[in-house]
Amino acid sequence: MTMQEKVKHLLELRAQAKLGGGQKRIDKQHSLGKLTARERIYALLDEGSFEEFDMFVTHRCTNFGMEKRTPLSDGVVTGYGTIDGRLVYVFSQDFTVFGGSLSEAFAQKICKIMDQAMKVGAPIIGINDSGGARIQEGVNSLAGYTEIFQRNILASGVIPQISAVFGPCAGGAVYSPALTDFIMMSKDTSYMFLTGPKVVKSVTNEDVTTEELGGASVHATKSGVAHFVAETEKEGLMMIRKLLHYLPSNNLEEPPVEINEDPINRLEDFLNDIIPDNPNKPYDVKDVIHAIVDNGEFLEVQAAYAPNIVIGFGRFDGVSVGIVANQPKYLAGVLDINASRKAARFVRFCDAFNIPIVTLEDVPGFLPGTAQEYGGIILHGAKLLYAYGEATVPKVTIVLRKAYGGAYCVMGSKHLRGDINYAWPTAEIAVMGAKGAIEVLMSKDIQAIEDAEKRNEFIAEKEQEYRDSFANPFVAAKYGYIDDIIEPRNTRFRIIRALQSLRNKRLENPAKKHDNLPL
Ligand code: HXC
Repeated sequence: MTMQEKVKHLLELRAQAKLGGGQKRIDKQHSLGKLTARERIYALLDEGSFEEFDMFVTHRCTNFGMEKRTPLSDGVVTGYGTIDGRLVYVFSQDFTVFGGSLSEAFAQKICKIMDQAMKVGAPIIGINDSGGARIQEGVNSLAGYTEIFQRNILASGVIPQISAVFGPCAGGAVYSPALTDFIMMSKDTSYMFLTGPKVVKSVTNEDVTTEELGGASVHATKSGVAHFVAETEKEGLMMIRKLLHYLPSNNLEEPPVEINEDPINRLEDFLNDIIPDNPNKPYDVKDVIHAIVDNGEFLEVQAAYAPNIVIGFGRFDGVSVGIVANQPKYLAGVLDINASRKAARFVRFCDAFNIPIVTLEDVPGFLPGTAQEYGGIILHGAKLLYAYGEATVPKVTIVLRKAYGGAYCVMGSKHLRGDINYAWPTAEIAVMGAKGAIEVLMSKDIQAIEDAEKRNEFIAEKEQEYRDSFANPFVAAKYGYIDDIIEPRNTRFRIIRALQSLRNKRLENPAKKHDNLPL
């Protein structure tokens, strides 16, 4: 062959690899509203930045006549490219080749780029669309999955790992996305479950559809497995790009700082009126978040799961920050099992990647009841406590209204090494609310009053006395547990100044092999 012929041969092989499982299967993929593996990568990365690895890899299986079907790339497209000029590694499972099922060679391709991403400290994004373990390869496929899991585990807290699920993701295959930091699912075209509807029927006799068992809406609302849901794959890929704007490339880097043109001393007068006079009336804490972050931009994470706590990313004077806020609009912002787990994982992610944590607190306490106690709220609440307590990143907490009982301690309090703790004048910081406190402290006096009207008057009077003496920020401020009581409309500026002062914060936890977080 002449050199020209060799080049031509190379280009032909490349074209063949790019066709994956062939035009018919590509058309089927499109007809289901899905993109192909390569189209997804092109939509995700900066134009022209993708460098592919291992296009010529084929599987080595000879069972079931597989030696006669050896498509180039073997069902997964891998390589690196950039997102807004920053290096990322990516793999994208190709459903058109053996249903995107995972072979030994397929797994080795993924492991290669995971190792590379770890070596250079760059995020890894995995796009999942697969029928699971390649049945013809048997245990080699299981070994391949487990090699990936092992790398997910070692990469955790070192490089950001993001998963998109844009098709089937079933059986043990779900555990690779589950080990990553964020999962994005596409609406109506993706599902994740350990066992499918048929097995569910035979074991538990439940009739359930694929969507009801593991569709995006289930994982966004009920299980909390999905952090983001996108209407379309393109929208999902754009959200992943947006998410990466807030994250450093690895745990040794600071998160990227953007140029900020939103005035840092912008006053928001409406915040001086946002807390209703009646302490039992709700307001939307997201109004507070949008008012104080740069340009009102807030990327919410797990928006539909445990909405009694809000988590997500925003910026203060260009600096990327993780925000945790109790949401009085749902269940009065109470901490329950799901909210505790949701916020704990987020706080730990931020801490692992040097992202300061801003907490907006309005929490009446932990949710009482047998469902919570039997479900282990003690352990799950401890996760959040633990996460705040171990975090060494800058921690700024603003008590907007209620900070009662254990929830006061947990939500980034001074005693868990909160760096700067402010309160609005509307803050109520105490062991418990007025009603509960008076019931406990004065039950004998209350019972002694026979006349119902007089009794109610007495209770109301005592509750008011309690509120005046305890349900305010001044007692905590007196002891230095609150650094200052701030005007609500000036919150943005005060947070920005606080974060500026903490820029060079250095704090280390005692050396240990690893912690023993209450799981
Ligand atoms: C080999 C597979 C495959 C698999 C699909 N294909 N799954 N090949 N191993 N696991 C092939 C099909 O033979 C077909 O090949 C092509 O992919 C497309 O599959 P279809 O069934 O035609 O597509 P569709 O109707 O869309 O159904 C998709 C599906 C179904 C729901 C994913 O294929 C399916 O149920 N597959 C098996 C799922 C499964 O049980 N996997 C193992 C799970 S256990 P042709 O040549 O016709 O195009 C597991 C353990 C992991 O994964 C453990 C890790 C620890």
